[in-house]
Amino acid sequence: MKKKIAIIGSTGSIGKQTLKIIKKNKKNFEVILLSTNKNIPEISKQLKIFKPKNLIITDLEKYKKFKKRKRNIKIFNNFNCFKKIFKKKIDYVMSSISGFSGLQPTIDIIKHTKLIAIANKESIICGWNLINKEIKKNKTNFIPVDSEHFSIWSLIEKKKLNIEEIFITASGGPFLNRTRESLHKIKPRQAINHPNWNMGKKISVDSATMVNKVFEALEAKKIFGISLKNITILSHPDSYVHAIVKFRNGLTKILIHDTSMKIPIFNTIYPNNNLVLQSEKLNLKKLNNLNFNTFNKIKFPSLKILREFENIEHSLYETVLVSANDELVELFLNRKIKFLDISKKLIMIMKMKEFKIFKSKKPNNLGQIISLNRYVRLKTKTLCVRSNDNA
Ligand SMILES: NC(=O)c1ccc[n+]([C@@H]2O[C@H](COP(=O)([O-])OP(=O)(O)OC[C@H]3O[C@@H](n4cnc5c(N)ncnc54)[C@H](OP(=O)(O)O)[C@@H]3O)[C@@H](O)[C@H]2O)c1
Repeated sequence: MKKKIAIIGSTGSIGKQTLKIIKKNKKNFEVILLSTNKNIPEISKQLKIFKPKNLIITDLEKYKKFKKRKRNIKIFNNFNCFKKIFKKKIDYVMSSISGFSGLQPTIDIIKHTKLIAIANKESIICGWNLINKEIKKNKTNFIPVDSEHFSIWSLIEKKKLNIEEIFITASGGPFLNRTRESLHKIKPRQAINHPNWNMGKKISVDSATMVNKVFEALEAKKIFGISLKNITILSHPDSYVHAIVKFRNGLTKILIHDTSMKIPIFNTIYPNNNLVLQSEKLNLKKLNNLNFNTFNKIKFPSLKILREFENIEHSLYETVLVSANDELVELFLNRKIKFLDISKKLIMIMKMKEFKIFKSKKPNNLGQIISLNRYVRLKTKTLCVRSNDNA
């Protein structure tokens, strides 16, 4: 029987890589749903090849135009259509929308699938308690896609309780070997030019500011229930080792794979299968020169933000972080603020009294998270525009 699948965010870097893997074995899959915000050329290509039964195009103008052209497929404009699309549980969902916008669809789609692979780290950071509740309630299997978390997940084989310490690696992004002073005039195209990974713009900027590693530490803390004190971020310019887990029984396991997201993605699609994925030979040169280091927090000040989360399990303060960062990255990509302003303003916002109070507030429902997101984005934008006016 064909495996029924859906990808939310299919036109992005993760979405396209997922479809590339599916394409190799196309006859065994039935694509039920694909989605884009506004990338019509890419979704049209995907439509031709994979013939999904349903499409979601969230940009209203693009949706209206596209709907007029295509009459033989169900096209929706938002994610409130899952009940109409899924009559019974499908086999696999990839959640690969970027930023906070991935949260609601990720939570809502869990009940409609037997397995959900989540790449959208922002939803895990802001709403893990709600996601996990849905996963348990609906007996849906979950696999993290982020390479570090996929690696930890593979290393621990469900023995969560036995972990002593986790090490997450970071390439250091495009500016690892530059001084902070030399980054004043960085342009968006330089910030998204990652040396090792070919990713969407938002996560590429997050890698350059190191906010991505703050996110990944929080993501690991949530998924694996381990304290931030037991999570260390190591610089590792080759991105060959993705995670190291030290267990309480004296064993330490290291996971290595090619610097390609196709490996975690392939293994979420075929978790219990012995299908072969073409990959490179073990690279002894890289293995002999792993070159791990801890990070200098003066050079990468965003890493200091992690301290603010040390004694928090689940709070709305995570939403403050993700929302302010989403806004700052967008402002930077639209050339409204400078590169160094991203971490500077993020630290400033995280220290504001009006936001610190959210440290003690647990997210109880999605509505609460969404309204805080709107408020933080607006406040962040206003603060940035005001400080530009005063500059
Ligand atoms: N790329 C990687 O290697 C990688 C690795 C680890 C984790 N992740 C995580 O995976 C997620 C996706 O990353 P990515 O690099 O694939 O991002 P991306 O290339 O920017 O793609 C994002 C996808 O989400 C859609 N989208 C964006 N905003 C939307 C909105 N408001 N409503 C509906 N759809 C929207 C995009 O549609 P359009 O094409 O129309 O813009 C696209 O399909 C992120 O959370 C990222 O942190 C990515």
